Amino acid sequence: MRSLDDLDVHARRVLVRVDFNVPLTPGEDGGVEIADDTRIRAALPTIEELRGKGARLVLVSHLGRPKHGPEPALSMAPVAARLGELLGAEVTLAPGVVGESVRALTEGLRDGEVLLLENVRFQEGETDNDPALARELAELADVYVNDAFGAAHRAHASTEGVAHLLPSAAGRLLEGEVKTLTGILEHPEPPLVAIVGGAKVADKIGVIERFLQVADIVMIGGAMCFPFLHAQGHSVGESLCDDEDVEHARKLLDRASDTHTPQPGRGRMLVPHDLVIGDRLADDAQHRVLPGVEVPAGWMGLDIGPDTAARYTGEIEQAGTVFWNGPMGAFEHAPFAFGTRAVAEAVAKAPGFTVVGGGDSASALAHFGLERAVDFVSTGGGATLELVEGRTLPGVHALEGGAVGRPSPSGCVPPPGGRRSRPKAGEPGPSSSDDRAPLSRSKGARVT
Ligand code: 3PG
Ligand code: MG
Repeated sequence: MRSLDDLDVHARRVLVRVDFNVPLTPGEDGGVEIADDTRIRAALPTIEELRGKGARLVLVSHLGRPKHGPEPALSMAPVAARLGELLGAEVTLAPGVVGESVRALTEGLRDGEVLLLENVRFQEGETDNDPALARELAELADVYVNDAFGAAHRAHASTEGVAHLLPSAAGRLLEGEVKTLTGILEHPEPPLVAIVGGAKVADKIGVIERFLQVADIVMIGGAMCFPFLHAQGHSVGESLCDDEDVEHARKLLDRASDTHTPQPGRGRMLVPHDLVIGDRLADDAQHRVLPGVEVPAGWMGLDIGPDTAARYTGEIEQAGTVFWNGPMGAFEHAPFAFGTRAVAEAVAKAPGFTVVGGGDSASALAHFGLERAVDFVSTGGGATLELVEGRTLPGVHALEGGAVGRPSPSGCVPPPGGRRSRPKAGEPGPSSSDDRAPLSRSKGARVT
């Protein structure tokens, strides 16, 4: 995959697809505010490197899911303002996505200047990967850089189509995400321990299947543990558990190694052996620790129990590599936060290389103030899961010259340069930085 090192960008217009799809909240003046600017910050290394090289930047992103053209509430205006603050430079917001006036703005850019296009999903043809829109986007620049890892699983005009029309390369964020995520799957420091939680087995089948092939242990938490427990013959009370998920769970259990006799290419699977149960999902719910997994009628399981948490955190402490995706319980409600907090703290303190896969687990980390204490937090949601599953991401594939519908036989990325070695707490970092992901973080945050 080509990187910024392979592009000549000086005094050239560079179209950079970023993922500035940030969460918004209502603002004071009836407008909207950015609730979390992580994704904007994550694109700064690429933007700053390009500006430093004298590139003329044309940034493009989607924001939300506008259905029928422009929606004022989904304008990139607040993003342009926030990016300007972070860069300490002026960021001009274009009045649209493509067209004459936007092209004139790109032609007026000077070296190092930044133009942000309006929400690319305001434009018809974006999500259909319309070749005409891809051509119009290509006319805005001389070179294309894709740094939108979070949107790399979409084959849209700004993520896929345009990559074929200009000299193109991956930005530092996308490059680091792909290297890190494929690195832990292909060359993990053993043992590799995966913790998978969340609500539905159906959403995580591919991820669990992949980890059963490459990991030593897969530990299950969150509401999705009930289909597994049900498949093992336990009663689940009122816990979330549908028939479809029970079927998926049964198949996944069949693929796991026997706990006592590990089989090559088959990870062991751990499911909870105690639970926290509640009479409903609320902060003031009646709740108690259940020293087993037979959930009584009228109760629902809402967190893993303390013994399970101790077992899981023990495995995390021993791991060479940890991947965590999905909360262990309903952590937003205090009575059911213990398991997720315990796992988050263990991941934060673990001596091994720790990766947290986007979405809810990243929010959980932030909820406990631990996001800086893990080695790598992915900015992707669906993109992270699809990459881990081994699926081809169209946005990445296009940078390798591949077209949609014709995936390369080896998947989406070449294997990374080798086993990642990282310093243990207190040791200095590696002197060479070329294998380090831009979001790699040194340990330092205190776990209290
Ligand atoms: C995300 O938030 O996962 C990405 O920005 C992709 O957004 P989408 O699911 O609306 O395509
Ligand atoms: Mg670590």
